[in-house]
Amino acid sequence: MPDANTAAAAPNLHLAPYQARGLKGRILSGVQPTGNLHLGNYLGAIRNFARLQGDYECLYCVVDMHAITLWQDPKELASQTREIAAAFLAAGVDGARNAIFNQSAVPEHAQLAWIFNCVARVGWMNRMTQFKEKAGKDRENASLGLYAYPALMAADILIYKATHVPVGEDQKQHLELTRDIAIKFNNDYHAPGFFPVTEPLIFGAATRVMSLRDGTKKMSKSDPSDFSRINLTDDADAIAQKIRRAKTDPHPMPETAADAEKRPDADNLLGIYAALADRAKDEVIGEFAGKQFSEFKAALTELAVARLGPVGAEMQRLMKDPGHVDSVLRAGVEKARAIAGPILADVYRTVGFLKP
Ligand code: TYM
Repeated sequence: MPDANTAAAAPNLHLAPYQARGLKGRILSGVQPTGNLHLGNYLGAIRNFARLQGDYECLYCVVDMHAITLWQDPKELASQTREIAAAFLAAGVDGARNAIFNQSAVPEHAQLAWIFNCVARVGWMNRMTQFKEKAGKDRENASLGLYAYPALMAADILIYKATHVPVGEDQKQHLELTRDIAIKFNNDYHAPGFFPVTEPLIFGAATRVMSLRDGTKKMSKSDPSDFSRINLTDDADAIAQKIRRAKTDPHPMPETAADAEKRPDADNLLGIYAALADRAKDEVIGEFAGKQFSEFKAALTELAVARLGPVGAEMQRLMKDPGHVDSVLRAGVEKARAIAGPILADVYRTVGFLKP
């Protein structure tokens, strides 16, 4: 067993080459092409992808292999995949500077995932709350892929030895598992520091955006009510209508952060406002303290339309040009494979696979 310092020292070892180039590390993050992208995906992840691109080497992946852990219509999957790539571009990710690609086109992800299936323990997977939520009551009927999902996610990250991963708060547990897998692999194969112990990047005023219909439930693509979320492709009328109908309580706007915390629907809308305005939530609470929700909702609508309108419009424009999106993805695949190939070869050597 390596001592505790080995794991702690490992990330620094991995950071050094980036620091020498004036960068903070290498990022990998992913989004599933499973339908409507919403405000939570945008504020929790995709907007941050663009903001981080100057400071890190970035790889952004459309995780189509994760998507099919739940049934996806084959006729829709390719266009859903392009739509996520279009969202990355529309949010400001530079496809020439970073790699934007789809997971299934880089087979090294699946190859490393198999090895991680053999490193991760069944007991670890049984603790994953996302599996429990997605499998629901009929767990016997869930796909084996849904159960193994977090090991593939660890492979997405570690096939690039990524040092940092920007995500929303709901992915925190999967990132802890990724760290456990890296540490166990390094220990089991007597390869101290082989994989970095990846750091999550969870930041901003809206790391967990909640449903507009229920402030105690996460905003999600799978909620049957479209009024529970703002989709990135919603037009100004749809955004206005959804904010108008967003659940609130009968009192005036909260006066303090402590008051807001006890009122999840109000707290969620204030967090969304703060994130969209790029302001501290406490400041926003101060501005609207004691006012009527109607006044706040009008301001929120105006802000949301101003911030999301151009992103949605650019996505729509890009979706009319699939040839361009595909060319960005092809370039991304090439960049990604150039990094992943040699790392996988190293992993195979470390594991002892024969190369006849
Ligand atoms: P996915 O596709 O469900 O969501 C994409 C990103 O959006 C964030 N997110 C949210 N953030 C704030 N509030 C919300 N309501 C909200 N809903 C979603 C997610 O945290 C995520 O960052 N397992 C991942 C995809 C994945 C991945 C990876 C991520 C696969 N491999 C490797 C990072 C690194 C997922 O299902 O995300």
